[in-house]
Amino acid sequence: MKNIKDVNIHGKRVLVRADFNVPLDEHLNITDDARIRSVLPTLKYILDQHSKLIIMSHLGRPKGEVKPKMSLSPVSKRLGSLLQTEVGMAKDCIGPEAESLVGKMKEGDVVLLENLRFHPEEQKNDDAFAQKLAGLCDVFVNDAFAVSHRINASVMAVTKYAPVSVAGFLLQQELDYFQKAMAEPQRPLVAIIGGAKVSGKLDALDNMLHHVDKFIIGGAMANTFLKSAGYNMQKSMVEPDLVETAASIMKKAIENGIKFYIPVDAVAASRFDAQADIRTVPVQEIPKNWMTMDIGPATIMLFSEALEDAETIIWNGPMGVFEMDAFSRGTSAIVRSVAKSQALSIVGGGDTGAAVHNSGETERISYISTGGGAFLTLMEGKTLPGVAALNG
Ligand code: 3PG
Repeated sequence: MKNIKDVNIHGKRVLVRADFNVPLDEHLNITDDARIRSVLPTLKYILDQHSKLIIMSHLGRPKGEVKPKMSLSPVSKRLGSLLQTEVGMAKDCIGPEAESLVGKMKEGDVVLLENLRFHPEEQKNDDAFAQKLAGLCDVFVNDAFAVSHRINASVMAVTKYAPVSVAGFLLQQELDYFQKAMAEPQRPLVAIIGGAKVSGKLDALDNMLHHVDKFIIGGAMANTFLKSAGYNMQKSMVEPDLVETAASIMKKAIENGIKFYIPVDAVAASRFDAQADIRTVPVQEIPKNWMTMDIGPATIMLFSEALEDAETIIWNGPMGVFEMDAFSRGTSAIVRSVAKSQALSIVGGGDTGAAVHNSGETERISYISTGGGAFLTLMEGKTLPGVAALNG
């Protein structure tokens, strides 16, 4: 895959697909700008080459309609202050205004195009739409790892029409870290998989069966595994259709010599509420009609011991309902155990990344991916369509 350093961009119109899908509060303030900061090396490099920098992104899921609350205008302000330059904003990503703004650009100018998803064509990978985007540039750069699993016009079809298409530094870095962890890992390689549902992570679990030395399963998805091992999970979230699948994954793992860890205790609650009655119990003793909300202290100790000899760790998905303080201890404790480890540690998925940031352990984790779905797609062993388009 060619990256931006392999082509001459000097003085050219360079169109960067970034993923500026950042969280906003009700006053439209950006609450976490990590995704903007992560693209800065690419953007600064382009400006250092005296190019004309045009950036495009989506924000949220406006479903093909103009929704002012999903405008990229807060991003343009933050970007301007991070780049310490003025960022022009095109009110539409295609059309006469964008063309005229780009037409007037001088070397070193920056223009951000409005939310791509205000057009339904974006998510339909529409050729005519992609052609209009590509018409704005001499060189197209995909630096949007987090959306490269989507078959969208600004990620895929655009590469058919742009004169040159290359990867940016972030996309390259994300793929390099993942490759290092999965293709040639220092062993033991431990996968920590959490989050709500087994169903969303089945393909990832299946693929990881061929790579890992240990599986650590937490979050509500562990309930389905516990159920398959015969425990009465009471009112805990369980996916009944997947109980047999969970049993067969566990069986296959053990047959392959993989050490498979599931919780031994839980923080249980009388209802799905931080104000509910809460008790820490062994998984054998979940009170009648209660539900598990987090892993318990014995599980934290068990999982932490399992992580002690790890040389590589890949983590996706929290250990409990960590957005409620009462049920965040398990995830925070595992963040600390991963941070303490000498292993190459890679964390992906929006929630898991947020948990690391909240715990203040960002520095001691080797790499926090900007991707959620894209990271999971790599864990499934699949090629990202956005990457395939650059290679094709
Ligand atoms: C993400 O937040 O994972 C990416 O920006 C992709 O967003 P999407 O799931 O709405 O396609």
